[in-house]
Amino acid sequence: MEPTSKLPHVGTTIFTVMSALAQEYNAINLSQGFPDFSPDGTLLELCAKAMKNGPHQYGPMPGHPMLRKKISETIKEKYGYSLNHDTEITVTAGATQAIFTAISAFVHPGDEVLYFVPAYDCYEPAITLNGGIPIPIALSDNDFTPDWDKVAQTVNEKTRMIIINNPHNPCSSILDEFHMRKLDAILEKHENLVVLSDEVYEHICFHPKGHQSIWKYKHLSERGIQVCSFGKTLHATGWKIGYCAAKENLMKEFRKVHQFNVFCVNHPLQDALAHYLEKTPDFHKISDMYIKKRDYFLSLMKHTSFRFHECLGSYFILADYSEISDEPDTEFCKRLTIEFGVAAIPLSVFYHDKRDLKKIRFCFAKKEDTLMHAAERLMKITS
Ligand SMILES: Cc1ncc(COP(=O)(O)O)c(C=O)c1O
Repeated sequence: MEPTSKLPHVGTTIFTVMSALAQEYNAINLSQGFPDFSPDGTLLELCAKAMKNGPHQYGPMPGHPMLRKKISETIKEKYGYSLNHDTEITVTAGATQAIFTAISAFVHPGDEVLYFVPAYDCYEPAITLNGGIPIPIALSDNDFTPDWDKVAQTVNEKTRMIIINNPHNPCSSILDEFHMRKLDAILEKHENLVVLSDEVYEHICFHPKGHQSIWKYKHLSERGIQVCSFGKTLHATGWKIGYCAAKENLMKEFRKVHQFNVFCVNHPLQDALAHYLEKTPDFHKISDMYIKKRDYFLSLMKHTSFRFHECLGSYFILADYSEISDEPDTEFCKRLTIEFGVAAIPLSVFYHDKRDLKKIRFCFAKKEDTLMHAAERLMKITS
């Protein structure tokens, strides 16, 4: 029997395809978004301790209380907003689970969900699986920010949710105060709207005024659902631990779904994270480290014919290769991997209509050595 697929258009993700190709051709993998360096040694020691001494059994459904407390303190320190860690923060199995859970909790069949393309790949399937109607809105081709007039015109009585991703993967753009105010004004006008705010790169923001979280805005803080990832912040993407923060009325609904699709998250790792965050690592250092990596990579690449877009946040950077080739971006990425030994991700895969802007995404969350070797290879490309 052939089951009727609920996601007939979904195949193997490009990240899996490119990483497999990178492995097959022994290429330097600047495609998938993960660091090639380890988390802090102190954190690893705390993990080893927790693995040895426990806790080994199920933890509380919303997450380790000490960890939730640290999360609420960090939000207060960074954005000046107070959340109750008992009722307004839930630890999740990475941001992906938080996103799926939030969409399941708030999107009813027939509800419209606006999201911006290019988009991180898990939004659209989660909307579809929950019977929602995905409404993609393209970001500008120049600076990859939303056209808020277009958004305001698209919102109607069926619109339940707007998804934002700030800083943005794959475009490295950010929503600064201007953009956040525009969104806040839309929310003010539409009382039934919620905003799912994917802020997994909140600590990797290079704007002088810092990251603009939903917690800094009146309506967004009341009707926003913030999703974050320790994987991105602490260089441990494989641990799949993140969290969701939202006002109590929203969190109540979030937890109703969370308790049945995961119940609780890896308990010893939560314990280690809670103890690690007790010593309050300086999150500013994360942006500083990535600015150095971004600038190092760009300095190495300046003699190539790639044209780079501004990178204001995240650990990705978009490169235009139209001076090098007119191949479709997927073909160009395959050739880059096979012939030149560097894997990247074509931008078209992040678009609902797979439009080809002759741009590719590099991940620079790598050791200097890795970036240097990748650049050496990329410099050999002439056409
Ligand atoms: C924009 C964005 N959201 C969510 C995620 C998923 O985060 P996690 O690994 O914590 O599930 C990623 C991971 O790459 C991402 O880039």
